[in-house]
Amino acid sequence: MKNQPTFIDLFSGIGGFRIGFEKSGFECLMSSEINDYCKKTYQNNFGESPLCDVTKIPLNDIPDHDVLTAGFPCQPFSICGKKRGFEDTRGTLFFHICEIINAKQPKVILLENVKHLIHHDSGNTLTVILNSLEELGYHVNFKLLNAKNFGMPQNRERIIIFATKEKPFNFSKCNFSQTESLETFLDDDDGDFEFLNKDEYTLIENPIVQKESGLMFVGYRNKAIWKTGIRENTEHLSRVHRQPNRIYSVQGTHPTIPSQESSGRFFIYLPNKDAVRKLTIKECYRIMGFPEDFKISESKSEAYKQVGNSVCIPMVTELATQILNQQLLSVNESQRITKKHKQLSFEFDFV
Ligand SMILES: C[S@@+](CC[C@H](N)C(=O)[O-])C[C@H]1O[C@@H](n2cnc3c(N)ncnc32)[C@H](O)[C@@H]1O
Repeated sequence: MKNQPTFIDLFSGIGGFRIGFEKSGFECLMSSEINDYCKKTYQNNFGESPLCDVTKIPLNDIPDHDVLTAGFPCQPFSICGKKRGFEDTRGTLFFHICEIINAKQPKVILLENVKHLIHHDSGNTLTVILNSLEELGYHVNFKLLNAKNFGMPQNRERIIIFATKEKPFNFSKCNFSQTESLETFLDDDDGDFEFLNKDEYTLIENPIVQKESGLMFVGYRNKAIWKTGIRENTEHLSRVHRQPNRIYSVQGTHPTIPSQESSGRFFIYLPNKDAVRKLTIKECYRIMGFPEDFKISESKSEAYKQVGNSVCIPMVTELATQILNQQLLSVNESQRITKKHKQLSFEFDFV
Protein backbone atom coordinates (compact mmCIF):
# COMPACT_ATOMS: atom_id res chain seq x y z
CA MET A 1 0.00 0.00 0.00
CA LYS A 2 1.34 3.45 -0.91
CA ASN A 3 1.93 5.90 1.96
CA GLN A 4 1.11 3.17 4.40
CA PRO A 5 1.30 4.37 8.02
CA THR A 6 4.10 2.69 9.94
CA PHE A 7 4.83 1.52 13.47
CA ILE A 8 7.46 -0.21 15.53
CA ASP A 9 6.47 -2.99 17.90
CA LEU A 10 8.60 -2.83 21.06
CA PHE A 11 8.34 -5.54 23.74
CA SER A 12 6.50 -7.33 20.98
CA GLY A 13 5.82 -10.58 22.82
CA ILE A 14 3.93 -12.75 20.37
CA GLY A 15 2.76 -9.82 18.28
CA GLY A 16 -0.63 -8.77 19.66
CA PHE A 17 -0.02 -5.14 18.68
CA ARG A 18 1.19 -6.21 15.28
CA ILE A 19 -1.99 -8.14 14.48
CA GLY A 20 -4.19 -5.18 15.47
CA PHE A 21 -2.12 -2.53 13.69
CA GLU A 22 -1.71 -4.56 10.50
CA LYS A 23 -5.48 -5.15 10.46
CA SER A 24 -5.95 -1.39 10.53
CA GLY A 25 -3.59 -0.87 7.60
CA PHE A 26 -0.26 -0.13 9.31
CA GLU A 27 3.09 -1.57 8.27
CA CYS A 28 5.43 -2.94 10.93
CA LEU A 29 9.01 -1.68 10.42
CA MET A 30 10.71 -3.26 13.41
CA SER A 31 10.01 -5.38 16.45
CA SER A 32 12.00 -6.16 19.56
CA GLU A 33 11.62 -9.00 22.04
CA ILE A 34 14.07 -10.54 24.48
CA ASN A 35 12.40 -13.89 25.23
CA ASP A 36 13.35 -16.75 22.92
CA TYR A 37 10.02 -18.57 23.25
CA CYS A 38 8.09 -15.42 22.31
CA LYS A 39 10.48 -14.79 19.42
CA LYS A 40 9.80 -18.29 18.10
CA THR A 41 6.01 -17.81 18.23
CA TYR A 42 6.41 -14.41 16.56
CA GLN A 43 8.62 -15.89 13.84
CA ASN A 44 6.11 -18.70 13.22
CA ASN A 45 3.32 -16.20 12.71
CA PHE A 46 4.93 -13.24 10.98
CA GLY A 47 7.81 -14.91 9.14
CA GLU A 48 10.44 -12.76 10.83
CA SER A 49 12.10 -12.79 14.20
CA PRO A 50 12.02 -9.68 16.39
CA LEU A 51 15.33 -8.00 17.17
CA CYS A 52 16.78 -8.70 20.59
CA ASP A 53 16.90 -6.71 23.83
CA VAL A 54 15.61 -3.22 23.04
CA THR A 55 18.36 -1.61 25.13
CA LYS A 56 20.99 -3.22 22.88
CA ILE A 57 19.60 -1.85 19.62
CA PRO A 58 21.58 1.26 18.55
CA LEU A 59 19.21 4.21 18.17
CA ASN A 60 20.52 4.73 14.63
CA ASP A 61 19.31 1.27 13.66
CA ILE A 62 15.72 2.10 14.56
CA PRO A 63 13.81 3.17 11.45
CA ASP A 64 11.73 6.35 11.38
CA HIS A 65 8.14 5.45 12.14
CA ASP A 66 4.73 7.06 12.73
CA VAL A 67 3.65 5.12 15.81
CA LEU A 68 5.65 3.50 18.59
CA THR A 69 3.80 0.76 20.45
CA ALA A 70 5.06 -0.73 23.70
CA GLY A 71 3.35 -3.06 26.12
CA PHE A 72 6.37 -2.71 28.36
CA PRO A 73 6.93 -5.34 31.06
CA CYS A 74 4.17 -5.14 33.58
CA GLN A 75 5.51 -7.42 36.33
CA PRO A 76 7.27 -4.58 38.19
CA PHE A 77 3.90 -2.81 38.52
CA SER A 78 1.52 -5.74 38.66
CA ILE A 79 -0.46 -6.62 41.75
CA CYS A 80 0.60 -10.24 41.07
CA GLY A 81 4.30 -9.30 40.77
CA LYS A 82 6.42 -7.76 43.48
CA LYS A 83 5.33 -4.18 42.75
CA ARG A 84 8.81 -2.70 42.74
CA GLY A 85 8.25 -0.40 39.77
CA PHE A 86 11.19 1.73 38.73
CA GLU A 87 13.51 0.07 41.27
CA ASP A 88 13.25 -3.04 39.15
CA THR A 89 15.47 -2.90 36.07
CA ARG A 90 12.49 -3.95 33.95
CA GLY A 91 10.68 -0.84 35.21
CA THR A 92 13.48 1.40 34.03
CA LEU A 93 12.92 0.11 30.51
CA PHE A 94 10.41 2.92 30.30
CA PHE A 95 13.29 5.40 30.28
CA HIS A 96 14.83 3.56 27.39
CA ILE A 97 11.55 4.01 25.50
CA CYS A 98 11.91 7.74 26.22
CA GLU A 99 15.39 7.74 24.64
CA ILE A 100 13.96 6.19 21.49
CA ILE A 101 11.11 8.71 21.45
CA ASN A 102 13.56 11.58 21.87
CA ALA A 103 15.72 10.33 19.02
CA LYS A 104 12.96 9.31 16.59
CA GLN A 105 10.08 11.68 17.45
CA PRO A 106 7.20 9.38 16.43
CA LYS A 107 3.88 11.18 15.99
CA VAL A 108 2.02 8.81 18.26
CA ILE A 109 3.10 6.65 21.18
CA LEU A 110 0.81 3.95 22.49
CA LEU A 111 1.75 2.34 25.80
CA GLU A 112 -0.13 -0.46 27.50
CA ASN A 113 0.25 -1.76 31.03
CA VAL A 114 -1.58 -3.36 33.93
CA LYS A 115 -4.30 -1.44 35.74
CA HIS A 116 -2.24 -1.40 38.92
CA LEU A 117 0.22 1.01 37.33
CA ILE A 118 -2.27 3.75 38.30
CA HIS A 119 -1.88 3.02 42.01
CA HIS A 120 1.76 2.02 42.06
CA ASP A 121 3.80 4.05 44.56
CA SER A 122 0.67 6.10 45.38
CA GLY A 123 0.40 7.25 41.77
CA ASN A 124 3.97 8.55 41.55
CA THR A 125 5.10 6.00 38.99
CA LEU A 126 2.32 6.97 36.60
CA THR A 127 3.00 10.67 37.18
CA VAL A 128 6.66 10.15 36.26
CA ILE A 129 5.64 8.32 33.08
CA LEU A 130 3.13 10.99 32.04
CA ASN A 131 5.44 13.88 32.86
CA SER A 132 8.35 12.28 31.02
CA LEU A 133 6.25 11.98 27.86
CA GLU A 134 5.01 15.50 28.21
CA GLU A 135 8.54 16.81 28.63
CA LEU A 136 9.35 15.13 25.33
CA GLY A 137 6.78 17.43 23.71
CA TYR A 138 3.59 15.39 23.61
CA HIS A 139 -0.06 15.71 24.54
CA VAL A 140 -0.54 12.89 27.02
CA ASN A 141 -3.69 11.16 28.19
CA PHE A 142 -4.70 7.78 29.45
CA LYS A 143 -7.69 5.63 30.18
CA LEU A 144 -8.47 2.25 31.65
CA LEU A 145 -9.94 0.07 28.94
CA ASN A 146 -11.49 -3.33 29.37
CA ALA A 147 -11.47 -6.21 26.87
CA LYS A 148 -15.12 -6.84 27.68
CA ASN A 149 -16.00 -3.51 26.06
CA PHE A 150 -14.43 -4.66 22.80
CA GLY A 151 -16.64 -7.70 22.28
CA MET A 152 -14.44 -10.13 24.21
CA PRO A 153 -15.90 -12.17 27.10
CA GLN A 154 -13.00 -11.31 29.40
CA ASN A 155 -12.81 -8.84 32.27
CA ARG A 156 -9.34 -7.54 31.46
CA GLU A 157 -8.59 -3.97 32.46
CA ARG A 158 -5.48 -2.34 31.11
CA ILE A 159 -4.17 1.19 31.22
CA ILE A 160 -3.71 2.70 27.79
CA ILE A 161 -1.47 5.75 27.58
CA PHE A 162 -1.39 7.88 24.44
CA ALA A 163 1.22 10.51 23.70
CA THR A 164 0.46 12.45 20.54
CA LYS A 165 2.02 15.36 18.67
CA GLU A 166 -0.98 16.71 16.80
CA LYS A 167 -3.78 16.81 19.36
CA PRO A 168 -4.80 14.59 22.27
CA PHE A 169 -6.16 11.16 21.50
CA ASN A 170 -9.93 11.24 22.05
CA PHE A 171 -10.96 8.05 23.85
CA SER A 172 -14.65 8.92 23.64
CA LYS A 173 -14.54 8.41 19.86
CA CYS A 174 -13.67 4.72 20.23
CA ASN A 175 -16.30 2.23 19.17
CA PHE A 176 -17.15 0.05 22.10
CA SER A 177 -19.05 -3.16 21.55
CA GLN A 178 -21.30 -5.19 23.78
CA THR A 179 -19.78 -7.97 25.83
CA GLU A 180 -20.88 -11.41 24.83
CA SER A 181 -20.97 -14.30 27.25
CA LEU A 182 -18.14 -16.81 27.26
CA GLU A 183 -20.39 -19.60 25.95
CA THR A 184 -20.39 -18.25 22.40
CA PHE A 185 -16.56 -18.48 22.30
CA LEU A 186 -16.15 -22.09 23.32
CA ASP A 187 -14.74 -24.95 21.25
CA ASP A 188 -17.17 -27.34 19.58
CA ASP A 189 -18.45 -30.21 21.65
CA ASP A 190 -15.89 -32.70 20.35
CA GLY A 191 -12.87 -30.83 21.79
CA ASP A 192 -10.13 -32.43 23.87
CA PHE A 193 -11.60 -31.31 27.18
CA GLU A 194 -10.38 -31.87 30.74
CA PHE A 195 -13.51 -32.28 32.87
CA LEU A 196 -13.41 -32.32 36.67
CA ASN A 197 -15.10 -35.13 38.58
CA LYS A 198 -18.08 -34.06 40.67
CA ASP A 199 -16.15 -34.63 43.91
CA GLU A 200 -13.42 -32.25 42.76
CA TYR A 201 -15.55 -29.12 43.08
CA THR A 202 -18.34 -27.48 45.07
CA LEU A 203 -21.02 -25.31 43.52
CA ILE A 204 -22.55 -22.50 45.54
CA GLU A 205 -26.31 -22.28 45.80
CA ASN A 206 -27.22 -18.95 44.30
CA PRO A 207 -24.61 -17.71 41.84
CA ILE A 208 -24.80 -13.99 41.17
CA VAL A 209 -23.50 -12.09 38.18
CA GLN A 210 -21.13 -9.43 39.44
CA LYS A 211 -22.42 -6.35 37.68
CA GLU A 212 -19.14 -4.47 37.25
CA SER A 213 -17.06 -7.33 35.91
CA GLY A 214 -19.76 -9.52 34.36
CA LEU A 215 -18.24 -12.56 36.11
CA MET A 216 -20.60 -15.23 37.36
CA PHE A 217 -18.91 -16.98 40.28
CA VAL A 218 -20.49 -20.40 40.72
CA GLY A 219 -18.14 -22.41 42.92
CA TYR A 220 -14.65 -23.56 43.72
CA ARG A 221 -12.36 -26.52 43.42
CA ASN A 222 -12.03 -28.72 46.49
CA LYS A 223 -8.35 -28.25 47.12
CA ALA A 224 -6.53 -29.04 50.33
CA ILE A 225 -6.60 -26.00 52.56
CA TRP A 226 -3.88 -24.21 54.45
CA LYS A 227 -5.29 -24.23 57.95
CA THR A 228 -2.96 -21.91 59.84
CA GLY A 229 -4.72 -18.73 60.87
CA ILE A 230 -8.09 -19.74 59.45
CA ARG A 231 -11.07 -19.13 61.71
CA GLU A 232 -13.49 -21.95 62.32
CA ASN A 233 -16.22 -22.26 59.68
CA THR A 234 -14.37 -20.06 57.20
CA GLU A 235 -12.20 -22.85 55.78
CA HIS A 236 -14.04 -22.88 52.46
CA LEU A 237 -13.22 -19.18 51.99
CA SER A 238 -9.52 -19.91 51.83
CA ARG A 239 -10.25 -22.12 48.85
CA VAL A 240 -12.65 -19.71 47.24
CA HIS A 241 -10.29 -16.78 47.37
CA ARG A 242 -7.40 -18.46 45.65
CA GLN A 243 -7.92 -17.48 42.02
CA PRO A 244 -6.99 -20.83 40.43
CA ASN A 245 -9.66 -22.49 42.59
CA ARG A 246 -12.53 -20.32 41.47
CA ILE A 247 -15.03 -21.56 38.95
CA TYR A 248 -17.05 -19.20 36.76
CA SER A 249 -20.08 -19.91 34.61
CA VAL A 250 -19.82 -19.62 30.86
CA GLN A 251 -22.97 -17.49 30.99
CA GLY A 252 -20.85 -14.61 32.27
CA THR A 253 -17.46 -13.18 31.33
CA HIS A 254 -14.14 -14.81 32.14
CA PRO A 255 -11.66 -13.24 34.58
CA THR A 256 -8.36 -11.82 33.30
CA ILE A 257 -6.07 -14.42 31.83
CA PRO A 258 -2.89 -13.67 33.78
CA SER A 259 0.69 -14.08 32.58
CA GLN A 260 1.72 -15.88 35.78
CA GLU A 261 -0.45 -18.91 35.11
CA SER A 262 1.55 -21.51 33.21
CA SER A 263 -0.70 -24.53 33.64
CA GLY A 264 -3.97 -22.99 32.51
CA ARG A 265 -5.96 -23.47 35.69
CA PHE A 266 -9.04 -21.70 34.36
CA PHE A 267 -12.16 -23.70 35.17
CA ILE A 268 -15.55 -23.04 33.66
CA TYR A 269 -19.01 -24.25 34.54
CA LEU A 270 -21.31 -25.38 31.73
CA PRO A 271 -24.92 -25.12 33.02
CA ASN A 272 -26.41 -27.11 30.12
CA LYS A 273 -24.15 -30.06 30.98
CA ASP A 274 -23.94 -29.37 34.72
CA ALA A 275 -20.21 -29.94 34.39
CA VAL A 276 -16.92 -28.18 35.03
CA ARG A 277 -13.95 -28.28 32.68
CA LYS A 278 -10.75 -26.43 31.96
CA LEU A 279 -10.84 -23.64 29.42
CA THR A 280 -8.77 -24.95 26.50
CA ILE A 281 -5.64 -23.14 25.34
CA LYS A 282 -7.36 -22.38 22.03
CA GLU A 283 -10.25 -20.79 23.94
CA CYS A 284 -7.78 -18.65 25.91
CA TYR A 285 -6.40 -17.24 22.65
CA ARG A 286 -9.91 -16.81 21.25
CA ILE A 287 -11.08 -14.66 24.18
CA MET A 288 -8.10 -12.37 23.59
CA GLY A 289 -9.25 -11.98 19.98
CA PHE A 290 -6.41 -13.89 18.30
CA PRO A 291 -7.26 -15.22 14.85
CA GLU A 292 -8.17 -18.91 14.61
CA ASP A 293 -5.10 -19.65 12.49
CA PHE A 294 -2.65 -18.11 14.99
CA LYS A 295 0.20 -20.56 15.58
CA ILE A 296 0.35 -21.12 19.33
CA SER A 297 3.63 -22.19 21.00
CA GLU A 298 4.09 -25.95 21.16
CA SER A 299 5.08 -25.62 24.81
CA LYS A 300 1.78 -25.42 26.69
CA SER A 301 3.26 -23.58 29.66
CA GLU A 302 4.83 -20.98 27.35
CA ALA A 303 1.59 -20.71 25.38
CA TYR A 304 -0.33 -19.87 28.56
CA LYS A 305 2.25 -17.30 29.70
CA GLN A 306 2.40 -15.73 26.26
CA VAL A 307 -1.34 -15.23 25.91
CA GLY A 308 -1.61 -13.85 29.46
CA ASN A 309 1.08 -11.31 28.64
CA SER A 310 -0.48 -10.26 25.38
CA VAL A 311 -3.15 -7.71 24.48
CA CYS A 312 -6.81 -7.80 23.56
CA ILE A 313 -6.60 -7.71 19.76
CA PRO A 314 -9.96 -6.01 19.02
CA MET A 315 -9.01 -3.24 21.47
CA VAL A 316 -5.66 -2.67 19.75
CA THR A 317 -7.32 -2.78 16.34
CA GLU A 318 -9.81 -0.11 17.41
CA LEU A 319 -7.06 2.11 18.86
CA ALA A 320 -5.01 1.80 15.67
CA THR A 321 -8.09 2.66 13.59
CA GLN A 322 -8.78 5.67 15.79
CA ILE A 323 -5.22 6.97 15.26
CA LEU A 324 -6.09 7.15 11.57
CA ASN A 325 -9.69 8.36 11.99
CA GLN A 326 -8.63 11.11 14.38
CA GLN A 327 -5.88 12.13 11.93
CA LEU A 328 -3.12 11.95 14.48
CA LEU A 329 -0.41 11.26 11.96
CA SER A 330 -0.60 14.57 10.08
CA VAL A 331 1.41 16.86 12.28
CA ASN A 332 0.57 20.51 11.98
CA GLU A 333 3.72 22.36 13.06
CA SER A 334 1.74 25.22 14.67
CA GLN A 335 0.01 22.75 17.00
CA ARG A 336 3.16 20.94 18.05
CA ILE A 337 3.87 21.30 21.70
CA THR A 338 7.49 21.65 22.52
CA LYS A 339 7.09 23.41 25.83
CA LYS A 340 7.17 21.52 29.06
CA HIS A 341 4.28 21.40 31.49
CA LYS A 342 1.34 21.73 29.19
CA GLN A 343 -1.82 20.70 31.06
CA LEU A 344 -2.09 16.93 31.02
CA SER A 345 -5.50 15.59 30.16
CA PHE A 346 -6.52 12.60 32.21
CA GLU A 347 -9.61 10.52 31.76
CA PHE A 348 -10.17 8.55 34.88
CA ASP A 349 -13.63 7.26 34.08
CA PHE A 350 -14.15 3.65 33.17
CA VAL A 351 -15.98 2.51 30.10
C1 LIG B 1 3.74 -7.38 28.67
S1 LIG B 1 4.66 -8.29 27.53
C2 LIG B 1 4.12 -7.60 26.00
C3 LIG B 1 3.41 -8.60 25.16
C4 LIG B 1 2.96 -8.13 23.81
N1 LIG B 1 2.21 -6.90 23.84
C5 LIG B 1 2.15 -9.20 23.10
O1 LIG B 1 1.17 -8.88 22.43
O2 LIG B 1 2.48 -10.38 23.23
C6 LIG B 1 6.28 -7.58 27.69
C7 LIG B 1 7.31 -8.25 26.82
O3 LIG B 1 8.53 -7.51 26.91
C8 LIG B 1 9.61 -8.44 26.75
N2 LIG B 1 10.83 -7.77 27.22
C9 LIG B 1 11.25 -7.60 28.49
N3 LIG B 1 12.42 -6.94 28.52
C10 LIG B 1 12.74 -6.67 27.24
C11 LIG B 1 13.83 -6.01 26.62
N4 LIG B 1 14.83 -5.50 27.35
N5 LIG B 1 13.85 -5.92 25.28
C12 LIG B 1 12.84 -6.45 24.54
N6 LIG B 1 11.79 -7.10 25.06
C13 LIG B 1 11.74 -7.21 26.40
C14 LIG B 1 9.14 -9.63 27.58
O4 LIG B 1 9.85 -10.79 27.23
C15 LIG B 1 7.66 -9.68 27.25
O5 LIG B 1 7.39 -10.55 26.18
